Amino acid sequence: MAPYTIRIIGDPVLTQRAAEVTEVDGRLVQLVEDMFETMYDAPGLGLAAPQVGVQKRLFVYDHDERPGVLINPEIRESRGEWVFQEGCLSIPGLYFEIVRPKEVLLVGYDLDGNEVQIEADELEARLFQHELDHLDGVLMVDHLDDDQRREARRALRELRLRAAEAAPSGAGGLRLP
Ligand code: NI
Repeated sequence: MAPYTIRIIGDPVLTQRAAEVTEVDGRLVQLVEDMFETMYDAPGLGLAAPQVGVQKRLFVYDHDERPGVLINPEIRESRGEWVFQEGCLSIPGLYFEIVRPKEVLLVGYDLDGNEVQIEADELEARLFQHELDHLDGVLMVDHLDDDQRREARRALRELRLRAAEAAPSGAGGLRLP
């Protein structure tokens, strides 16, 4: 069983800006390990700390079997445009074509406190932009056009209904099992 339950859209933790990480200690290392386990269990390509209810600026990812963690990441440069059908572990079952920059230069820190710079393209660049959004309380539904937004509202109503049926009465109703 995964160490964490992934928070689902509607949970306020997903719409808040996460705080900078100021210290890498044993607890943070444990958090990263648990986030990897939760991500692989889901399964997903990336997972940001707010998705497990932790308001810290870091995310884990695994692109092309190259796993990584980025702490206090920032996008320094971005270029081009790329359309990709995005999904999100916090919005189960919904996929939308979203346009974002095709290439990004990402700067952040690893678990040893070393600065890392990654030039990413296409899927990897998309992954980084999506996860970084989570640290700012932004979800993929915030990037939709009007038609997609209507479709998303319908799908989210169904998601809530299913969650309400699955949750015991009195529970928030938004967190899926
Ligand atoms: Ni996501």
